[in-house]
Amino acid sequence: MLYNTHFHITTWVIGIILFLVVLSLIKKSNQKAAKITHMVLRLFYVLILVSGALLYFNNYINAGGSLFAEAIIKSVSGVWLIAAMEMILVKVKKSKSTFAGWLQFVIMIILVISLGFGRLQLGILP
Ligand code: HEM
Repeated sequence: MLYNTHFHITTWVIGIILFLVVLSLIKKSNQKAAKITHMVLRLFYVLILVSGALLYFNNYINAGGSLFAEAIIKSVSGVWLIAAMEMILVKVKKSKSTFAGWLQFVIMIILVISLGFGRLQLGILP
């Protein structure tokens, strides 16, 4: 089950939903709920990383050519997307500008979705 994409897709969908929930909790000044949800989100970061790394090592470790390039860029963009989400949340908490974080978020989500669903081959069905 860990070796197909279902676990990975489940973790990143829940991760992105939790990210939006933490964002709205911080904006509503519900700091305690935001803190707890943020901790759960950080746990999901780990699950996304582990499930993505498992997909990489089980399917692309010996890949060559353009497949190698696409799998590497997909994986690095996935890690970067997590970093962008964390950056946005920390900046919102400190009432600092989130523009740089959102710019990275948008670029990385485009890369991750287009490479994940558009180019790489595993697909949703086992
Ligand atoms: C929030 C972060 C992430 C998002 C939104 C995301 C999104 C996706 C999507 C949409 C797919 C395609 C699923 C499919 O084809 O059925 C995928 C697959 C994959 N992801 Fe991620 N991912 C994230 C993080 C990561 C990380 C951190 C890594 C590596 C450490 C990673 C490595 C992979 C690999 C190797 C695949 C398999 C590609 C394939 O053949 O379809 N991902 N991811």
